[in-house]
Amino acid sequence: MIRPFLILCVIFLHCNGEFLSNKIRKFPDGFQFGASTSAYQIEGGWYEDGKGLSIWDIATHTDPSQIKDKSTGDVAADSYHLYKRDVEIAKELGLDFYRFSVSWPRILPKGFSEQINQAGIDYYNNLIDELLKNNIKPFLTMYHWDLPYELQKLGGWVNPYIIDWFVDYAKVLYDNFGDRVKLWTTINEPKQICYEGYGSTLKAPMLNVTGVAEYICAKNVLLAHAKAYHLYDEHYRKIQNGTIGISISCTWFEPASDTVDDHQAAIDARQFDWGQYAHPIFSKAGDFPLELKRNIALKSAEQGYPRSRLPELSASEICLIRGSSDFFGVNSYTTKLTYRDASLEGMYAVPSYMDDMAAVIISNPAWPQAQSTWLQEVPWGFHKILKEIMKLYDNPPVYITENGWSTSGGLLDEDRIRYYRNYLNVLLDAIEEGCDVRKFTAWTLIDNFEWKNGYTEKFGLYEVDFSSEKHNRTPRKSAYIYKEIIRTRTLDPTYEPEKFSV
Ligand code: NOJ
Repeated sequence: MIRPFLILCVIFLHCNGEFLSNKIRKFPDGFQFGASTSAYQIEGGWYEDGKGLSIWDIATHTDPSQIKDKSTGDVAADSYHLYKRDVEIAKELGLDFYRFSVSWPRILPKGFSEQINQAGIDYYNNLIDELLKNNIKPFLTMYHWDLPYELQKLGGWVNPYIIDWFVDYAKVLYDNFGDRVKLWTTINEPKQICYEGYGSTLKAPMLNVTGVAEYICAKNVLLAHAKAYHLYDEHYRKIQNGTIGISISCTWFEPASDTVDDHQAAIDARQFDWGQYAHPIFSKAGDFPLELKRNIALKSAEQGYPRSRLPELSASEICLIRGSSDFFGVNSYTTKLTYRDASLEGMYAVPSYMDDMAAVIISNPAWPQAQSTWLQEVPWGFHKILKEIMKLYDNPPVYITENGWSTSGGLLDEDRIRYYRNYLNVLLDAIEEGCDVRKFTAWTLIDNFEWKNGYTEKFGLYEVDFSSEKHNRTPRKSAYIYKEIIRTRTLDPTYEPEKFSV
């Protein structure tokens, strides 16, 4: 018990370290700005016009108590009906691109491509056309967690046939939207899909087969992504001429002290958290990272399993996955401290992802805290992620596909402004130091359904009035700041929007 106490003493010594000077900094030519949303979080229209059910429809309806405010995404921000206002907002902000996701069951109600729901195709066609009419590039995410329930009945992401189902779905998207969509993300945040959805109860389908399902899911997600990538690369790219990649959530794990053990714990945590997906795609060698293979094999043997719970990737699978992304999509929000303490063994379920990782993960109470318990402002951690990606994966083109801050609400969101300024400031440092970062995407355009936290956490640049049927959208102060950053292509830490100046 002495160790956690010592760690707490050490963490107070870690200070934020990031102070914006008053210097105005310029973004490089060609750098692009956007904002992001996802289908289930904003659309509503959950059972309209032939849409099938998703695992989130089922999760929110079968046991509302799993969601903090017992809410659902049935209506959400009502973007199914108000998408024109969303595009207007994107225009008001001056966005170069808008990242949104397609709801798989809205297009393919049963999950399979034998039955295409024309109303779903029409909805996304209208959205895409409206964006283009306003000179905003559509950036389409194929999968942002709302799996057709019909496919979950068959095991969802732990059934290897999902690789084919996903590729069939991708083909429908390329065929219908690829003439106008030139920016694609296949899959959003594989770790949240696999660990949180299949190896715990944090996300739908809340399968909770710990230490087993998340790794089977990881293999299937990687293969589904890679095959969808190759389908585009080989059959569509020549005609459609787009860019396609994957978005991986990256948290920085900092050793809580300078011991060798704590350094190793931080490396293990990073490899479990994002290396699990990034290494097979972006490293020269491919395959799952060594730390992952070693830890899970050792633990599996100790636990009496006849083989590692981490499924192997064959030589041809490694080859298929390696290099299957035109860019590294980084979703990044925060940093954690990490240490190793053998006396704490047994604090996690056995077997489980957390037990396999064997790292204790804590927050530093000294860091600025958002409304979301997991989210603290640590710009230097974001900087370290960018540098690490440059180092480990030979400096791939990086698109920040998500970054943002939650509050409990209100239009005067000074802490969100500080967060964005500090993160963009270190992003500019990273670019100056050679990182190939090309796009930045704010999460999120408008307030929306924050998964198990319902509507209790607001990430929007625009506030949504969920209490009125109209779902009015109102710009927060941060929206004016972001708009000015985009207009001037500079970061001016002293800029005050007229509307909010005193
Ligand atoms: C990442 C996810 O992609 C998004 O759906 C979520 O709302 C944000 N993080 C904030 O938690």
